[in-house]
Amino acid sequence: MSASPTTSALIQAQQLRKTYKSKSGPVHALAGLDIAVPERTVTALLGPNGAGKTTAVKVLTTLITADSGTATIDGIDVAADPRAVRRVIGVSGQYAAVDENLTGLENLAMVGRLYHLGTRRARARAAELIDVFDLSDAGSRPVKGYSGGMRRRLDLAGALVNEPRVLFLDEPTTGLDPRSRLALWDVIKDLVSAGTTLLLTTQYLEEADQLADSIAVIDGGTVIASGTSDELKADIGGHRVAVTLVAGADGGTARAVLARHGTGEPRAGGDGRTWEVAVVDGPAALQRVLADLAEAGIELHDAGIRRPTLDDVFLQLTGRPAEADEAEEEAGSGAGSAEKEAVR
Ligand SMILES: Nc1ncnc2c1ncn2[C@@H]1O[C@H](COP(=O)(O)OP(=O)(O)OP(=O)(O)O)[C@@H](O)[C@H]1O
Ligand SMILES: [Mg+2]
Repeated sequence: MSASPTTSALIQAQQLRKTYKSKSGPVHALAGLDIAVPERTVTALLGPNGAGKTTAVKVLTTLITADSGTATIDGIDVAADPRAVRRVIGVSGQYAAVDENLTGLENLAMVGRLYHLGTRRARARAAELIDVFDLSDAGSRPVKGYSGGMRRRLDLAGALVNEPRVLFLDEPTTGLDPRSRLALWDVIKDLVSAGTTLLLTTQYLEEADQLADSIAVIDGGTVIASGTSDELKADIGGHRVAVTLVAGADGGTARAVLARHGTGEPRAGGDGRTWEVAVVDGPAALQRVLADLAEAGIELHDAGIRRPTLDDVFLQLTGRPAEADEAEEEAGSGAGSAEKEAVR
């Protein structure tokens, strides 16, 4: 089956809208969402809680229908022919269900039978996937004893039972520890280099950066920016100059110095002592900032230039930080700076 002549992308959505009713009024989960994922590429839908990521995945994978707009997978309309769509896709995500009382192997074999693989083929495929996902030791144990990371891997294995050309992963690594996250990224990268077309959702800017060819930043059910990670970064300027003052130093003066040499408003970091600003020429700007701060008698704990991150993109676009990531980072570095403070 090939894509229709008008759709070049394997996954395509145009002006999808979905409104939920809730006690506090209608919720516009999708408000005119456009997506296009070319064959053999990876697109990340990047957005905070409630942005509409899961709703988009549910529409594209035929679990719910949109109120309006169109979506096609390999040219097949998801609303008109959901069964044909289900034959070419795999999906794993936040709402995936496994039978807690069955073993990992039994769960996968059950998925295989749902795809009409036949009992023997379903068992063989289950054993193959258990091996690929490093669950051999746990494969014969009931899933209720699995850790979060093991569940994620089983969930992803389940999405691959029918060897789908098109894969949807809804927040594949949320809740995993850093090592499990890296391991899962490797598995996902292997799938992609083997030719799978992938749409994934994430709240982790780094995950989008690592896995995706193209990133669609979504907020309020629409795409508010899209491009490669480099393009998104380029949109919001070049380097940042960041300085961290010693405790008790004059933040107002530091801010004024940065404002003088930056292209935008200086921004305070979470620790209250770090200030940063976007600049045109990183090294030259850093030198000027350091000279002016020294002249003003402001002592520094740290100073440097850095490339913009996707966090900066989100902040720039929405005026808000990407909550999930920031909270985690603050939990990590916040404790560190409190310790440093205590030592002084
Ligand atoms: N079944 C439902 N009934 C009512 N409102 C819903 C329903 N499902 C989702 N919503 C609302 O629609 C909006 C989008 O939800 P969605 O689950 O798509 O977001 P998300 O980007 O996946 O968020 P998260 O990162 O928390 O998973 C939210 O405001 C959510 O509360
Ligand atoms: Mg979600």
